[in-house]
Amino acid sequence: MTTITQVGKTIPLSHPEITDEDISSVVSVLRTSRLSLGPKLLEFEEKFASYAGARFAVAVNSGTSGLHLAVKSLGIGEHDAVITSPFSFIASANCILYENALPVFVDIEPKTFNIDPQKIEEFLRERCTRESGTGLPVDPATGRRIRAILPVHVFGHPCDMGKIMAMAKEFGLAVIEDSCEALGAEYKGRKAGTMGAAGVFAFYPNKQMTTGEGGIIVTDDEEIAALCGSLRNQGRAINSGWLDHERLGYNYRLSDINCALGISQLGRIDSILRKRAEVAAHYNRILGDLVATPRTLTGSKRSWFVYVVCLPAGTGRTRRDGVLAGLSGRGIGCNNYFPPIHLQTFYRNRFGYREGDFPVTEDVAARTIALPFHNNLGEDDIAYVAESLRDIVHRLS
Ligand SMILES: Cc1ncc(COP(=O)(O)O)c(C=O)c1O
Repeated sequence: MTTITQVGKTIPLSHPEITDEDISSVVSVLRTSRLSLGPKLLEFEEKFASYAGARFAVAVNSGTSGLHLAVKSLGIGEHDAVITSPFSFIASANCILYENALPVFVDIEPKTFNIDPQKIEEFLRERCTRESGTGLPVDPATGRRIRAILPVHVFGHPCDMGKIMAMAKEFGLAVIEDSCEALGAEYKGRKAGTMGAAGVFAFYPNKQMTTGEGGIIVTDDEEIAALCGSLRNQGRAINSGWLDHERLGYNYRLSDINCALGISQLGRIDSILRKRAEVAAHYNRILGDLVATPRTLTGSKRSWFVYVVCLPAGTGRTRRDGVLAGLSGRGIGCNNYFPPIHLQTFYRNRFGYREGDFPVTEDVAARTIALPFHNNLGEDDIAYVAESLRDIVHRLS
């Protein structure tokens, strides 16, 4: 039986699953002369688009680059603002700033931890005026036009896309889904990432599947796909020469080496997602009475990215940090997922955000902890983590 006195044990927060087949796929590319912009890129894009249920997929070197290109390809710029969540990884707001547009944070819903559609509606109806001519909402606080909503499917839980899409339609806004944590998640039978104008996935090694580093944009819009394809490749058009550049572009390419790993991992994605769901179910069984986990919307299917628990109401940051320290002291990888974006130093300094600006986000962020989580986390390790958490929480209460 596992006991909490195990000495010298370390359990990482995440761990990629790399099989012999993954390694052979990567090595086989290394034996060719096409390490970049070769056949594996096209194969990965085609297979990913087909899995996601989108017409096009454009692979890039990170989720962040994908989000940046999605924002840019919609023509969002310096007079504009985009509604998004402060409870996310910082890239989902930074990608808006890259184009000199402004993120407008809207607080989250306390049970799902996703952006609250009712608060989006209140902001659009009660705070915004309408721009003459376009009819687009304008935020009187900044004078910026609201051009898009960028919902984040946090921890692999689909946002309330029905309400978000309805509002976007009414107010003439584009939707960019940050699906970086939500590969395989579904909202009412539709895959996350395929409901807006564009969706973006990420493949850092802690994600459901990995390419080492990498990301991908999915879209049904041919123009967005072509523009993103050009922008990620130094502004070259698809069929133009190596030294012909039609627009200001970037080097956001994903090499064929990375794509080979992606193809191999995508080939067993159903089994990966199943294993992760089983690990989460095991955690739920033994921790359900102690801590809460975010709720999944009825009719939606969550894809397990991380296993995040929420300590009881009133816990506060100091006690949460005590729990983190206790877990770390027992060799258990853990983290405070997520610190609110608006309270990050850069956002405080640049925009003057203060504690209290987004109370639901701040309350949830002060109580959430990511526990070790990966495809092959064994039952003994799960039991060790759970017993340790139980023991530390009781000691600190
Ligand atoms: C919600 C969210 N958005 C964007 C990203 C950025 O992805 P990447 O690290 O591949 O740039 C991540 C990555 O962790 C994420 O969790």
